[in-house]
Amino acid sequence: MGSSPGSIYTLTELRENVVTWRANGEQIGLVPTMGALHDGHLSLVQRAISECDRVVVTIFVNPKQFGPTEDLETYPRDNKSDLQKLAAFDTALAYIPDATKMYGPGFSTRVEVDGLTEHLCGKLRPNFFSGVATIVTKLLIQSLPDRAYFGDKDFQQLLVIRRLATDLDISVDIIGCPVIREPDGLAFSSRNAYLSTRDRITAPALFKILQQTAERAKAGEPCRAAEAWAKNELIQRGFTKVEYVDIRREETLESLDMINERSPRARVFGAAYLGTTRLIDNVTATSHG
Ligand code: PAJ
Repeated sequence: MGSSPGSIYTLTELRENVVTWRANGEQIGLVPTMGALHDGHLSLVQRAISECDRVVVTIFVNPKQFGPTEDLETYPRDNKSDLQKLAAFDTALAYIPDATKMYGPGFSTRVEVDGLTEHLCGKLRPNFFSGVATIVTKLLIQSLPDRAYFGDKDFQQLLVIRRLATDLDISVDIIGCPVIREPDGLAFSSRNAYLSTRDRITAPALFKILQQTAERAKAGEPCRAAEAWAKNELIQRGFTKVEYVDIRREETLESLDMINERSPRARVFGAAYLGTTRLIDNVTATSHG
């Protein structure tokens, strides 16, 4: 392949490519995105390219994962600029399906993952994870990848996708990749584009406060107290509303009361609003290696 990626728009074209690649014994990597590509997305593409012969980068703003009052209409879309960014990567094929084809007439199937989705983002965004699980299941079936790449930025989403791949016997390795941040600590996100200049200055406080919360809990402060400190601190710093700051077990998302050397791996998860922009982030809170 040349230095410029191909881009395809239909499932038929995707399947033609996949059939040829598999017949040639090539390893396929999948990187699902909703576009407005940034360095976080591109780190997944880079990792996939380093581990696979062919990489499919999907760009699809999935209507099923937006609530009725959420930002489906205004979500940033810029296919031209996305394709320019992907042009830096050999072997990447952009797949940009159409919503009316992805969800054809009579579409009525949903993939629901229980348990993991009861907490954090799942509690406040009722159809979000079934929307994600449904589209990711479809993309895995459409592209039959050996490996699929997701960011730790959306850690709960990563766990949900791991769970569905295991439960539905989808033969794929789900690979979690580290959060990529701006120099001031703000995690890259397509939604950062919504931030006003003033809010952009405040935004990195989310990461810093989650880090301090982890330090407090690791130093022996009860988790509920550390969480309460963080929520108050976010409001003091100028966040409009805090949805949650929760210290939870990394594998199951169960709540933890204290963190010590014997605790299972833990993370601090946070979601907070700056004006109407919702930011999420998470950091590790494990007191041992
Ligand atoms: P989107 O928000 O576009 O993110 C696509 C992938 O990029 C996800 O796996 C996400 O975790 C990862 N990502 C986003 N910001 C990142 C960062 N700063 N560092 C590292 N990785 C980052 O997540 C979705 O789209 C959708 O829910 C999707 C999985 C595509 C299903 O529609």
